Amino acid sequence: MRVVFIGPPGAGKGTQAQRLAIHERIPQISTGDIIRHAIRSQSALGKEFKDYSDRGALVPDQLVVRLVADRLAAADCQHGFVLDGFPRTVPQARALERLLDDKNMPLSAVILFNIQETTVINRLSGRRSCEKCGHSYHILYDKPQKEGICDIDGGRLTQRHDDREEVIADRLKVYQEQTAPLIAYYQASGILKYIDGEKAQSEVESALAKVLA
Ligand code: AP5
Repeated sequence: MRVVFIGPPGAGKGTQAQRLAIHERIPQISTGDIIRHAIRSQSALGKEFKDYSDRGALVPDQLVVRLVADRLAAADCQHGFVLDGFPRTVPQARALERLLDDKNMPLSAVILFNIQETTVINRLSGRRSCEKCGHSYHILYDKPQKEGICDIDGGRLTQRHDDREEVIADRLKVYQEQTAPLIAYYQASGILKYIDGEKAQSEVESALAKVLA
């Protein structure tokens, strides 16, 4: 299975990508996680990424495409993958198509998570992420067993810098301007499937399983 997840910030892409990856035993490739990892490592590239990520702007296409090309070349991607948050622009989608064509590995499906803006704000303002592993929780909908502590590795849970309300508005604008055109792009290729991202996590998971069956 080779799947792409697209949708507005907070639509549940990461949550569902993680579940699908475990179920299908395929890697979850989240460009957001890769970028945050580089920022935490304080590498030169990470410093460059931080400026974009903090503002809710997209990292330049050529940098992200290189990251994804390297990741897709790894052995664990040969039996499938779930791409979470990539592509995010039409040039990224074209680059992905070229990469996969070269490997003779066409996409099985592109999943669009539909969600309203009010839900986005609600979800992102309540999201807390583990400082160590990046796993996401929600203060109301997906609480850790112990408040402020990650169930997986005991890391401290903090709010992402780009989950502040003023940055969320910018991220939504960027989504509409730069990512929403992908809907028409993938509609034309006939592999786009829709998921109602407003439903509870378990219901979204079941709907996704049906669409991918
Ligand atoms: P990225 O990390 O990809 O952010 P995003 O796409 O804005 O997505 P989010 O992680 O905010 O949301 P999500 O849909 O994964 O929702 P989640 O499952 O966590 O990117 C961050 C930045 O990196 C970008 O702004 C950009 O700078 C850069 N970047 C990344 N990729 C790039 C690219 N390809 N090109 C250029 N730049 C790139 O859920 C959110 C919350 O809701 C959680 O708390 C969760 O517990 C809760 N939740 C999830 N599902 C449900 C549900 N069904 N009901 C109730 N609560 C739910």
